[in-house]
Amino acid sequence: MSGPLVLGIETSCDETGIGIVRGRELLANAIASSMDEHARYGGVVPEVAARAHVEALRPTLDAALAEAGVTLDELDAIAVTNGPGLAGALMVGVGAAKGLALALGTPLYAVNHLVGHVGADLLDSSPLETPTVALLVSGGHTSLLLVRDLERDVELLGETIDDAAGEAFDKVARLLGLPYPGGPSIDRAAEGGDPAAIRFPRALTLPKDLERHRYDFSFSGLKTAVARHVEAARDRGEEPPVADVAASFREAVVDVLVTKALAACADLGVPRLLLGGGVVANARLREAATARAAVAGVELRIPPLSLCTDNGAMIAALGARLVEAGQRPSGLGFAADSTLPVTTIRS
Ligand code: KG4
Ligand code: ZN
Repeated sequence: MSGPLVLGIETSCDETGIGIVRGRELLANAIASSMDEHARYGGVVPEVAARAHVEALRPTLDAALAEAGVTLDELDAIAVTNGPGLAGALMVGVGAAKGLALALGTPLYAVNHLVGHVGADLLDSSPLETPTVALLVSGGHTSLLLVRDLERDVELLGETIDDAAGEAFDKVARLLGLPYPGGPSIDRAAEGGDPAAIRFPRALTLPKDLERHRYDFSFSGLKTAVARHVEAARDRGEEPPVADVAASFREAVVDVLVTKALAACADLGVPRLLLGGGVVANARLREAATARAAVAGVELRIPPLSLCTDNGAMIAALGARLVEAGQRPSGLGFAADSTLPVTTIRS
């Protein structure tokens, strides 16, 4: 395989990711996470994340270069996430990328984090096909995209109107007294639980909501429903049935995610669905998506988990695609943009 040698820098949340690709070939995917530093707060603290990026950037860059066996002066381009994400965290990566590009005289591409998640699927033996629907679910986002063309045409179909899916896992875990991050804790707690024990609400799925919010999500009402259930048990002097609550909560989240994603595929006549984001680690989500996509005749694509969670390789892969498509570099005039719309694939 050949193609441009591209370094990708990702610092939009709590992962410092530096990836190196040659075209669609993955050479390195080095990651440092500040997750442990956020654990006692039950969620990512922006200032703590930004400072951790400053400390982790240089060693992570060195690790990626060593893993790939390349030197900085060999790079054909650098790609960096400039949004959406935490402003202070993004600025660390953007600053580093500009400094490197300026010092090395290397073309620099500022790319969209969400589109980067889709770009992760380029690093596979059977490449990404478009059009595809993409469901991105993490602690920071819950977005449903229609990707007609990865370099030129990405549309936001819908997103969460309150909490992100991963955030819901984190908050419900806290309610149940389980450790952060909530996703893995809930998965463990749900083992042996009955997913049908409690019928938790599936928000924005009633006909009246579907008119305005067909592809949108909402998880804060679900979190409140879990809280009420737990409180009611405690008021009766009982311990809440943690396994049943965890399994039923997880089922409600997964049901809505898969139902809306497959509805988009059916409505738009797109027989492909790509999953991305840290919540893809959820075993029940993978199982339900696999089973229901097969019934619907939709091809389901799930990149390896190391490429689903935030990483630099996906940013490098998208950068390499832009280079190969002959797109001009971003220059140094762009800024970090915490609310960068997904339609801005590159700045
Ligand atoms: O993509 P990611 O590593 O970072 C960002 O949030 O950007 O995703 C982390 C999120 C956390 O909210 C975590 O609770 C969730 O992904 N998560 C899971 C699982 N593993 C991680 N959610 C559900 N089930 C899991 N097994
Ligand atoms: Zn992400």
